[in-house]
Amino acid sequence: MPTASPAFRISSEKTDENPAAWLAVPVFEDEPVAIPQQDSQLEAEIARARATSGFAGKRFETLLVAPGHASAAVPTMVLLGAGPSSEFERETCRRLGAAAAMAIRARGGGPLALVHRAPAAGGTAGWVEAWAEGLTLGEFDAGRYKTQGRGEDRREATIVVPGATVEERAQAAAAADRARLVGGCVNLARELVNEPANLLPPRVLAERARGAAEGTALRVEVLDASAIADLGMGLVMGVAQGSQEPACVIVIEHRPSSAPAAPVLGLVGKGVTFDSGGISIKPAANMERMKDDMAGGAAVVAAMRAIALLDVPLHVVGVIPSVENMPSGSAIRPGDVLRGASGRTVEVIDTDAEGRLILGDALWYARRLGATHLVDIATLTGACAVALGKTTTGVFGRPDGWVDAVRRLADDAGDRSWVLPVFADYGDLLKSDIADTVNVGGRYGGAITAALFVGEFAGELPWAHLDIAGTAWNDEAKPYAPKGPTGVGVRALTALAVAMSRGLAGS
Ligand code: BES
Ligand code: MN
Ligand code: ZN
Repeated sequence: MPTASPAFRISSEKTDENPAAWLAVPVFEDEPVAIPQQDSQLEAEIARARATSGFAGKRFETLLVAPGHASAAVPTMVLLGAGPSSEFERETCRRLGAAAAMAIRARGGGPLALVHRAPAAGGTAGWVEAWAEGLTLGEFDAGRYKTQGRGEDRREATIVVPGATVEERAQAAAAADRARLVGGCVNLARELVNEPANLLPPRVLAERARGAAEGTALRVEVLDASAIADLGMGLVMGVAQGSQEPACVIVIEHRPSSAPAAPVLGLVGKGVTFDSGGISIKPAANMERMKDDMAGGAAVVAAMRAIALLDVPLHVVGVIPSVENMPSGSAIRPGDVLRGASGRTVEVIDTDAEGRLILGDALWYARRLGATHLVDIATLTGACAVALGKTTTGVFGRPDGWVDAVRRLADDAGDRSWVLPVFADYGDLLKSDIADTVNVGGRYGGAITAALFVGEFAGELPWAHLDIAGTAWNDEAKPYAPKGPTGVGVRALTALAVAMSRGLAGS
């Protein structure tokens, strides 16, 4: 039952009947620039504030300008450094919106108005969408279990589009609504990822998925341990067998009557609620972070909600295999051989390479449910984080047209990503002496061999794999995002469904 924040108001004037406590105004480093529909009073105020402070408009620099005279009706101006106008993009805009919301929340919150200013005229609805998305992302509060000092939720926010016509305002309002909805789903994923493993074992993740479907036409079905066994999902069962917590496979279906019979998008998300490594146990340092090993599953849950709320005319199935990976007397051992539902046998060399095992069975199931196109998303390999760092998601798969479309849509939606190769040569590293495959390919190219392992379960279908091991969690607070879960993938998957419903995604 995710709570929705109130809708954005779109106004064409900064001083209107709704007095805000805060007036956020982006300022470019190289102002003055030609700004359409100049608001000369605002320009003068900005010029004065810049002249009397060291504020240079560098990106994410902020300056509070209290009203010259005490009056409750006059807001405190928040100048938002927007950097060079030539580098102002949608993503800059989203991040600035988030930074504004976070800065204001840190100072007690309250109603806010944000003035849209862009270096060039036009594209207003797109910019407003970016502002609204950023403002919504800036509402995320990681302090759910703090009993004191939690910030209050946003009450209202206005986006001011100087000089906007009635029609422009209507378009901007629709765009802001979409952004609020999608941004809210990103925050839902972040909430799920933030939950500690003791409070979010697989069965609770399943309950939360049911909750996320409330108020939508999504159909949720949860396969329990016995259904999993009946289907022969030996890879899911194998990983789960060391834990007291039973496995489940969460299936979420979006099938509006407006959807054509094909294509059918299958979204598969890794739902390991805690990854200790199993018998191949991880070192203690930072192991607490492994509660985020269900971030791919959370992204699928939240994206399914967004896709339903947006009423995307496409048949989409989400499959989230969920387990806890623990060491115990009943855990799988290195050297054990498992047989997945597809019939493929796996020699488990390392029990810490568990994500690819459960994804294998889940991809098989998504195919069985009729998916024609597959995307899986998983905190799969430390190697991917080593290769691309903490800000870029790795994209793998086949054929190139499909993979490139997924990457581009992800990037445009705000989930920065880059394609890594899956040349068949790497597959040699996965040969087993006794089974069809081993589950680890060794030290080199670890993200790629993991992807290849997963891809073996995608059959002949177009398939893309998003490795979010680096991007699911922020290790350091940034002006536009707190330390903690990022909600990566929600916007990418949602954008992909929208694009496919329009026949836009390659292959
Ligand atoms: N969940 C981890 C991947 C991970 C590592 C995510 C660090 C986030 C941060 C995954 O299950 C795992 O343990 N992968 C191993 C694979 C190895 C055993 C081949 C890894 O990356 O070390
Ligand atoms: Mn692992
Ligand atoms: Zn894992």
